[in-house]
Amino acid sequence: MRGGGRRRRPAARPGAAARRRTSADSRDEVERRKAEHLRLATSREVGSRRGPGWSDIQLLHQALPVADLPAIDLSAEFLGHRLGAPLAIAAMTGGHEGAGDVNARLARAAERFGLAMGLGSQRAALRNPRLARTYAVAREAAPHAFLIANVGAAQLTAQDSGPPLTPSQLASAVAMVGANALAIHLNFLEETVQPEGDRLVTGLRRALAAAVASLAVPAIAKETGAGISHTAAVELRGLGFRALDVGGAGGTSFAAIETARAEARGDLRRAELGRVYQDWGIPTAVSIVAAGAAGLPIIATGGVRTGLDAAKAIALGATLVAVGRPLLAAALRGEAAVEAWITQFLEELRVAIFLSGGRRAADLRSAPRVVLGETRRWIEDLGCEAGLAPAPRPAGGL
Ligand SMILES: Cc1cc2nc3c(=O)[nH]c(=O)nc-3n(C[C@H](O)[C@H](O)[C@H](O)COP(=O)(O)O)c2cc1C
Repeated sequence: MRGGGRRRRPAARPGAAARRRTSADSRDEVERRKAEHLRLATSREVGSRRGPGWSDIQLLHQALPVADLPAIDLSAEFLGHRLGAPLAIAAMTGGHEGAGDVNARLARAAERFGLAMGLGSQRAALRNPRLARTYAVAREAAPHAFLIANVGAAQLTAQDSGPPLTPSQLASAVAMVGANALAIHLNFLEETVQPEGDRLVTGLRRALAAAVASLAVPAIAKETGAGISHTAAVELRGLGFRALDVGGAGGTSFAAIETARAEARGDLRRAELGRVYQDWGIPTAVSIVAAGAAGLPIIATGGVRTGLDAAKAIALGATLVAVGRPLLAAALRGEAAVEAWITQFLEELRVAIFLSGGRRAADLRSAPRVVLGETRRWIEDLGCEAGLAPAPRPAGGL
C-alpha cells in the first residue's frame, strides 16, 4: 500500500498524539506496575546486597539498668504529634486490586499501636478516582493514626508520561486519606531503571518548593533506597520540607525490583543497568548521620528489621524508624501476623532501651555507643564526625 491512492489522514502533531495515547495507557500502566511491585517485593529476593550498617553500631551495655522493663516509655513526638512508639509503617501500596485490604490491615495495626503510617504513591488514584478507595480505607481503619499521603517528586514536573500534578491534585491526595503530612518521594534511582521511568528533572527544585508551599500539612522528603546526603538534606530544608525520610541503602532495593520487571519484559538493557546499580546509595546508618546534621526530624527507613536496629537508628539521631517489606509480607499473611510482628519489634526496642540504661525511647539519643568499621569510615570521609558522638544528655534526664 505504500504510496497508494488512499488519502492519508492529516497526521496529528506527534507530541499531542503521543501525549493522548500515553495518558490513557499510563493510567493502566501505573496500576499494573503497583501490583507488580507488591508481588515482586514479597516473592523475590529484592534486598540490597549492601547492609544498612547496623552491625557497625553497638550500644553500650549498662550492667545497672535504671527503669523497670515494663515501665519503659516507647512514645515519641513527631511533627507535633505524640505516637505510641517511634515506628512508622513505610509507604507501600494503594492503587490496584488487593491493595485496599493490605492498607486496611496495616492501618488497623497503626491505630492499635499508635504508629504513623505512609500510603503508597497516590498518582494512580489522582488519575483514576475509582482507585481512591484503596487508599481511603486507611483513614477509616485508623481514625486517629498519623497518616502520610504520598506522591513522587518526578510527577511534579512535566514528563513524557503526563503533565505535572497540580496544587489541587496534591490537596486531593491529602484529603483522600485525611493525611497529617504529605511525603514527596525521591526515587530517581528507580526511575532510571524502570522501563517506563520519568527521568526529566528540569524545574524540579522550583516545583518542589511550590508544592511544599501550597500544602496545608507539613511535607516530608522521602528517599526510597538510595539515602539522603548532607548536601541534599540542606537543600530540602531550604525548599521548605519539615522532615526527611532518609530511605537509605541496605533494605529493599528498587533497582532490584525494577530489574526483575525489566527482565520479564525482555528489556535487557534496563535489566543490566539495574544489576549494576542494585547496591548504589548511602547506607541507612550513614544517611541518618549525614542528613540529620541538617537539623530536621529524621525517619530512618531502609533495612530496619528488628527493634535493636531501630534503637541503633534512634541512637544515631533518627526520630522515627519506618519498616516496609517485612510488614507488607505480614499484611499478606493477615492481621494477626502484622500485630505479632509489631509486638515482637516493640519488645526488642524496649529491651534495647532497658539494657542501655534508659527510661524512654528518646534516651537512646544520648546513650553511649560506638560506631565501627565501614560506617565510621563513611561518616569520617563525609566530614560528619560530629554525628559520631551521642547527643548530650538532657539536664535532669536519668
Ligand atoms: C512494594 C513496595 C512498594 C513501595 N511503594 C512506595 C511508594 O509508592 N512510595 C514511596 O515513597 N515508597 C515506596 N516504597 C518504599 C518504602 O516506603 C521503603 O522506603 C522501602 O521499602 C525500604 O524499606 P524496607 O527496607 O523496610 O522495605 C515501596 C516499597 C515496597 C516494598
